[in-house]
Amino acid sequence: MLRIITIVGARPQFIKAATISRIIGITQGIKEILVHTGQHYDDNLSRVFFEELEIPQPDYHLGIGSGTHGFQTGRMLEEIEQVLLKEKPQWVLVYGDTNSTLAGALAAVKLHIPVAHVEAGLRSLNRRMPEEINRVLTDHVSDLLFAPTPTAVNNLHREGITENKIRLVGDVMYDAALYYGAKADKESRILEQLGLESKGYILGTIHRAENTDNPARLRTIFEGLVSVARDIPFILPLHPRTRTMLQQEDMLEEVSRFVRFIEPVGYLDMVLLEKHARVIATDSGGVQKEAFFYRVPCITLREETEWVELVNLGWNQLVPPVNAQLIAESIKTVLISPRELPYPVGLYGDGKAAELIISELLKAS
Ligand code: UD1
Ligand code: UDP
Repeated sequence: MLRIITIVGARPQFIKAATISRIIGITQGIKEILVHTGQHYDDNLSRVFFEELEIPQPDYHLGIGSGTHGFQTGRMLEEIEQVLLKEKPQWVLVYGDTNSTLAGALAAVKLHIPVAHVEAGLRSLNRRMPEEINRVLTDHVSDLLFAPTPTAVNNLHREGITENKIRLVGDVMYDAALYYGAKADKESRILEQLGLESKGYILGTIHRAENTDNPARLRTIFEGLVSVARDIPFILPLHPRTRTMLQQEDMLEEVSRFVRFIEPVGYLDMVLLEKHARVIATDSGGVQKEAFFYRVPCITLREETEWVELVNLGWNQLVPPVNAQLIAESIKTVLISPRELPYPVGLYGDGKAAELIISELLKAS
């Protein structure tokens, strides 16, 4: 029996892990022990995903919570090490690029336990992003690197990671979009609940540290969004980090007059909101791709993106959030002049990334 330990902690990791846990559940010869670091702990950032996506309850909940990078990552490292020493798994599986990812990978490699990294090889080439540091370090201590795209594979080659460790498997987020997208159609009532019409609103998300923690940038972004929200309903599930910063900068009330803030929503509601949005404006990694999966044009409020293929195809447009007018105009242009865009099949795999990952893990063990 192959015993693996999966480390998760933040919202997008619950979604990614859900697709793989589901496959593990129906595969012979593999047992998963699930560790939740507690990086995200609010019900609507954590519990809702376990319930809706039917993720098994974590075997270990470390309850680390929020803090500075050093504090949070350090506490996780300490606690994960204890779990690994006790459980002695054959593999540790980590996802994406959060502090939970890096802590899991570091704890494992120091104990000589092989690390498998799902969503390996993504790069923004911006070393000021905490996520970029987490990804680069995790990739360089991993033994199996599951890359979602050929671009990710090339990034790994460029950094000298040997070919035999890399597997191009597609994107587990695409697996999730196919599986849960159909479920969302049947089960989510969010459009009725919010009184929204299909294609009659814009959906936004903003949470990235580089946007929220710089007051000038935060103000620029929301000035741009407010200008658009004067003309068309604008729905924005508000990440707690962004809420805190808007409050701190005394902007929350003023922006709320135009942008309709809602609490973070569960995945099925989010998927339905994405599917029916006319345009999506975001700084999220996952949401950029989901916009494409559901054929919704996307404006990404960042200088760079890891998912460059969507920019090249025209589905995603990068708008550096340094000028409110530019943000507003970019969104309005997409709103009034939708374009026919190429939609290549298989860009993010064939919806079977999770199966491939599990079969590669079994082969490598
Ligand atoms: C983290 C990841 C980011 C990922 C995002 C997904 C890192 C460095 N960042 O960012 O890559 O895109 O998760 O959403 O790992 N907070 C709450 N309740 C919670 C969790 C957080 O109120 O349940 C607040 C706290 O004030 C906390 C802040 O949000 O300080 C930031 O949380 P943190 O987990 O450090 O980073 P995220 O911005 O969520
Ligand atoms: N998401 C969600 N509810 C929300 C906002 C986002 O379920 O209120 C989902 C979204 O559909 C995507 C994932 O969370 O699958 C993205 O997470 P996030 O933007 O927090 O992180 P990132 O992908 O940028 O790391």
